[in-house]
Amino acid sequence: MRQSGHIVRQVLDYVRSMVAPGVTTMDLERAAEKKIGELGAKPAFKGYYDYPCVLCTSVNEEIVHGIPSEKRELKEGDIVSIDCGVVLDGYYGDAAITVPVSDTVKPELRKLLTVTEESLYRGIDQARIGNSVGDVGAAVQEHVEAAGFSVVREFVGHGIGTHLHEEPQVPNYGARGHGAKLREGMVIAIEPMVNFGKPETRVLGDKWTAVTADGSFSAHFEHCVAVTKDGPMILTK
Ligand code: CO
Repeated sequence: MRQSGHIVRQVLDYVRSMVAPGVTTMDLERAAEKKIGELGAKPAFKGYYDYPCVLCTSVNEEIVHGIPSEKRELKEGDIVSIDCGVVLDGYYGDAAITVPVSDTVKPELRKLLTVTEESLYRGIDQARIGNSVGDVGAAVQEHVEAAGFSVVREFVGHGIGTHLHEEPQVPNYGARGHGAKLREGMVIAIEPMVNFGKPETRVLGDKWTAVTADGSFSAHFEHCVAVTKDGPMILTK
């Protein structure tokens, strides 16, 4: 899983370097698909419940599961979440980043990105033997809400291994000590989705793209993390 995680990271690094005004989300998709093949893996999302692409690209008020499109040209001031999953020799890797499209992205949106990524690391630090998914969720939620942002409830992180989505669900909210216990050798994908405004969501007519109900911008970061005797081990570094 470290190998599949490493491939996901290389794809995200490559695609991130392409992000600029005038680039379309389909440009990112094509580059990612080529890169995944070159690195000897297979995409995990394409064909999953008929999802059509190898990436999810979610711009601005889109939270997750945005579908790459020729028509979606990134512009100054936008933020874009890029989510990628691959499978290598039967084992899955899954990670996401959100990047500013230009250096004119407003400071409060930069803060949204920083706080969301920090909250992911707060959650990762709780991925320890004997802790529960509630410890992970509470750590994420506390950090996000202290900054005045809100945590999405309708989409959650997940176990991952020989399937993209396994038990347990890993919410980005919760109560310490509650929920499924983390055991040695489990791997979980922790993926906070954080809204600038209110937490409510809706899904667009394409049946995939999740957006904020209030139209506020949203950020998303994800890592796969193994629960080990030596503490949390990030597999998508
Ligand atoms: Co995931």
